[in-house]
Amino acid sequence: MAEKILVIEDDPAFRAMLAEALHEKGYEGALVGSAEEGVARLKKELFDLVITDVMLPGMSGIEALSLIKQADPALDVIVMTAHSTRDSALEAVRRGAYDYFTKPFSLNEMEIVIRRALERRALRAELSALKNSLSGAGRVPVIVGQSPAMLRLIEMVQRVAALDTTVLITGESGTGKEVVADAIQAYSKRAAERFIKVNCAAIPETLLESELYGHEKGAYTGAVSLKKGKFELAHKGTILLDELGDMPLSLQPKLLRAVEQRVIERLGGGAPIDIDVRIIAATNQELAKLIEEKKFRADLYYRLSVATVNLPPLRERKEDLPALAAHFLEKINPKTGTDLRGLSREAMALLFDYDWPGNIRQLANVLERAAITSRGDVLTESDIRQAFENSPRAGVRESAPRTGTLRENLRAFERTMIADALRQASGVQTEAARLLGVSPKNLWNKIQKHRLGQAGA
Ligand SMILES: Nc1ncnc2c1ncn2[C@@H]1O[C@H](COP(=O)(O)OP(=O)(O)OP(=O)(O)O)[C@@H](O)[C@H]1O
Ligand SMILES: [Mg+2]
Repeated sequence: MAEKILVIEDDPAFRAMLAEALHEKGYEGALVGSAEEGVARLKKELFDLVITDVMLPGMSGIEALSLIKQADPALDVIVMTAHSTRDSALEAVRRGAYDYFTKPFSLNEMEIVIRRALERRALRAELSALKNSLSGAGRVPVIVGQSPAMLRLIEMVQRVAALDTTVLITGESGTGKEVVADAIQAYSKRAAERFIKVNCAAIPETLLESELYGHEKGAYTGAVSLKKGKFELAHKGTILLDELGDMPLSLQPKLLRAVEQRVIERLGGGAPIDIDVRIIAATNQELAKLIEEKKFRADLYYRLSVATVNLPPLRERKEDLPALAAHFLEKINPKTGTDLRGLSREAMALLFDYDWPGNIRQLANVLERAAITSRGDVLTESDIRQAFENSPRAGVRESAPRTGTLRENLRAFERTMIADALRQASGVQTEAARLLGVSPKNLWNKIQKHRLGQAGA
């Protein structure tokens, strides 16, 4: 795809000459006569570079600079100016322009500056990917695990990251699909470009389409201004379609087109827009089953599963428990003000006894709860037991038989759920009520009943 350059120049003759020159050098040029027009174009289209005159009717090139940077911070701007006004070019550079040339300039000179700017952009992306992969720190997520299954997976992640193909990540809830998506992006050559995540399950069907593809002004009531969609925003970078199994069937044909042809259209018409995006999809649902039930299109599945990474559930790789526990304790210590070094042998045995339906996320939760109540520098069996009891999700499916009457257990379960919701809502009762799906008044009554009123209860 030719690189697209926006040129803002008010002199029509010079503009025509630039248009011809850009075309000859193999670039796609878009030429406008004022900064206002230029800024408007930037809001609607994607460019790789902007070249602007300084002296313009209306808004000056320097004034336009901040608006351009606002529209796309990664976009480089080159200013052109007459030799007599070189000071204004320097001012532009001071304000973030990448470079300038003074008129008159030769076309070769222009070509060199353009090449350099475009190469710098590509280099920046490569460098940052390299830096990330070398340090293994910073934004790059760590995938903990030494079980044969995880070692195979980590190798797969590295191989897939280097390619630029579409990837489908599958696995039960909490197995680390997002961690893997982060790692693939961080090790890819697109590491320095945008990484946009869309949770298909969290957005109502009516909004998801405009969220993904954007809309033109007036596309529907409420579309008061033009909005770029996530695909467009992810241009040159990566998009994660999380919880893909929840993508409504009605939206799947349009997604198929985006995946197959890398072309999207905003809602409310407008021209098709080419996008250069790497697509990663993740789901905890069995797509094969959804296809059978006619809830997911087979053609879309084949397009997305060019490469697939399947995360094994934690119960199938329990040998990773010690390493995972150590990893999480290191993260938990500064958060809870503890100095935990590990788990007692009995505590670790409890972790091995359990089935972990909520996988690694549940493990992290249980350890954090245990850390909060712990004393001393190792987590004990009783710390872990208590943590399981305080965790509603774990509690229900815990292998140890429960004692007491149904009524007592239900009451205890209700209390834990409410305490959890309150903690999650930072004590804001209306928010906790929303999380629990009860009215604030109803929640208030229950808080009194369970004496959860006091802070810290
Ligand atoms: N191999 C791993 N090493 C270290 N941390 C991990 C690993 N796998 C998962 N985690 C951690 O476990 C938690 C859950 O992981 P993540 O959000 O990636 O799961 P998921 O598969 O996307 O779950 P869901 O299907 O519910 O969205 C996160 O806090 C993540 O950092
Ligand atoms: Mg996830």
